[in-house]
Amino acid sequence: MPIRPASDAALTACEFFAGGGLAGLGLNLEGAGFRTVLANDIDPAKARAFRANHPDVPLIEGDVWTLTPEQIPGAPDLCWASSPCQDVSLAGARGGLQAQRSGAFWGFWKLMQALDAEGRGPRIVVIENVIGLLTSGGGADFVAVCGAMAEAGYTVGALEIDAALWLPQSRPRLFIVAMRETEGARRPGPAGPFHSARVIAAHTRLPEAVKAAWAWWDLAPPPRRNRNLAALLEPGAPVFKAAETRTLLAMASPLHRARLEAIRASGERRIGAAFRRVRIENGRKVQRLEMRFDGLAGCLRTPSGGSSRQYVAVVDKGRVALRRLTGREAARLMGVDDAYRLPASESAALKLMGDAVAVPVVEALTRQLLLPALQDARAGAAA
Ligand SMILES: C[S@@+](CC[C@H](N)C(=O)[O-])C[C@H]1O[C@@H](n2cnc3c(N)ncnc32)[C@H](O)[C@@H]1O
Repeated sequence: MPIRPASDAALTACEFFAGGGLAGLGLNLEGAGFRTVLANDIDPAKARAFRANHPDVPLIEGDVWTLTPEQIPGAPDLCWASSPCQDVSLAGARGGLQAQRSGAFWGFWKLMQALDAEGRGPRIVVIENVIGLLTSGGGADFVAVCGAMAEAGYTVGALEIDAALWLPQSRPRLFIVAMRETEGARRPGPAGPFHSARVIAAHTRLPEAVKAAWAWWDLAPPPRRNRNLAALLEPGAPVFKAAETRTLLAMASPLHRARLEAIRASGERRIGAAFRRVRIENGRKVQRLEMRFDGLAGCLRTPSGGSSRQYVAVVDKGRVALRRLTGREAARLMGVDDAYRLPASESAALKLMGDAVAVPVVEALTRQLLLPALQDARAGAAA
């Protein structure tokens, strides 16, 4: 599944905060979409994975703040930025976009402004981030990002999209799409699953000048998903020894234990996802094992200290087996096919995928919104 060399006439994209290049895969539509002409990421391990999978795409390994317009070829049609989310994540410390890691967004934006000054600014910019960006800094971060884009002449709109509509992974993410000198498909007001209550609330908080530049982008949900977690699992992956399984199960809260006991008592075979979480109970931090048996994996994260590592739980005839989710399974949960080359180390593979964007979500945006907007503009210019 490399990024295919779409024809020279193809629309061009630059991929910032590229990680393993999953945004580029979705934009590329197997050669029928955008051609990535430049990618950037600061992390050497991510850069290695990117190069292994997309050898023909130029990648600059380094801090986005150090990039200069001379390094950007031509006038890219679209720039994609999946900037780091830790500081705006609802699960994190929420230092906001001013904080060091998520502040990298402004390094990207400075580059967009410099390109603009040379008349080479993109007609479309897409920002992908966690839902926490809608409310971090008391809502100020979202206002700042949308405000900067509106000021640069873009029409801006946001969509909350859960990858679970395409893949058996619960992964709600925010996509801010900004367009200029072109028209994307839009609705007169909020509608459908992607203009969520949280997006509508964040829109309400925008200043009038930014609201005037707002668009409710039109995106249709996919047909009903028919694959669940069990369909993506690798057969024969080794399970934990009984003692380790007992230790993990002992961390389950009474509610999760009761759910598991009910499945055990039924004797049915059920596949679930489990993950360790630190919860505050009675003022104390407690490690908990949480389990779900709804056919979905929980949101993949980058494993740090094992606390966000996911497990697979197989309950059969009253017996429970637990094992780690594999890197390949994580890749499948992101919509990446098995031709994708994962790092040899399992933890590096899980880190790569835990940080990434789900490919079918990018494909849906590309097919329905991004590509038509630019192709229509091209057709209009040719007429
Ligand atoms: C949320 S991940 C995006 C992953 C990517 N969308 C994918 O699908 O694999 C954020 C990425 O930003 C990179 N990053 C963080 N700070 C950066 C900076 N200052 N300059 C360039 N890249 C940075 C990280 O290494 C990480 O790969």
